[in-house]
Amino acid sequence: MQHAVRKAVIPAAGFGTRLLPATKAQPKEMLVVVDKPVIQYVVEEAVQSGITDILIIISEGKEVLKDHFAKDEHLEELLTQKKKTAELKEIQALHQMANITYIYQAEQRGLGDAVLCAEAFVAGEPFALLLGDTIVESAEPLTGTLAKDYAEKKDAVVALQRVPMAVAHRYGVFVGEEVASKLYKAQRLVEKPPQGNIPSDMVFAGRYILTPEIFDALRRTPPGVNDEIQLTDAMKILMEQHAMYGRLFDGVRHDVGNKLDFIKTNIVLGLQRGDIGAELREWLKSLG
Ligand code: UTP
Repeated sequence: MQHAVRKAVIPAAGFGTRLLPATKAQPKEMLVVVDKPVIQYVVEEAVQSGITDILIIISEGKEVLKDHFAKDEHLEELLTQKKKTAELKEIQALHQMANITYIYQAEQRGLGDAVLCAEAFVAGEPFALLLGDTIVESAEPLTGTLAKDYAEKKDAVVALQRVPMAVAHRYGVFVGEEVASKLYKAQRLVEKPPQGNIPSDMVFAGRYILTPEIFDALRRTPPGVNDEIQLTDAMKILMEQHAMYGRLFDGVRHDVGNKLDFIKTNIVLGLQRGDIGAELREWLKSLG
């Protein structure tokens, strides 16, 4: 099997019900954080991690995701005429930075089902999986860190973050033993454990390197929590035959798929911006 990770899959076909009504006619992956849609942050992380080929999984009505990364000759001409060079460069980068293709998930049957749509694209290679509604801030692009771990271990690696026990029930939870600094070998995975029975405070952070064996495991996975095909359940099947690792990373994961975190993400990333950060900080202080 090839060991360099050069393909990425980005599921973006979900309904985004937690953000309704914003997501009725607008994909949540296209919601703007400061000045870019969420999906652009995700694609940029993949590209900075050495990924060359990206499959975005969409559903009917989410074609605007395609438009965002498509070449727009008319707009490029206009920006050239107006000598808006910086804007032109940014717009050109959108269709030049990677080879991006799309596939439709026919029915939104869960993350596991979405990943299954990527089997032909993956074509037997290890691949990165990046949730399309999750932005990661880290010193080095997180998918790249995971790809390095994969190159060493040759088994699946998931990104982990620690969360307060009180909220761990919202996530896929990882139980493992530390085998190197911040690298854990998985012992047990639990998708959304019941409150009061949380086995660990380490949870999946929306970035994975998976091996193609995941597809057979997904086919054997019945619907789980929320009646959806859960990726975590398929990973548990994979663990019967293969080791799996978890990388606790230094950084922050922003899950833009719920209202509170969407607003927080805009503020946190806005504060870091040279053009608006200082003014935003002052304004926040003035709120008391
Ligand atoms: P979520 O479970 O957060 O997305 O999936 P959702 O189902 O759209 O959200 P709610 O719960 O209704 O608010 C994380 C990522 O996986 C994609 C989503 O688009 C999101 O980027 N996803 C989820 C799919 O592609 N297909 C699915 O069937 C479910």
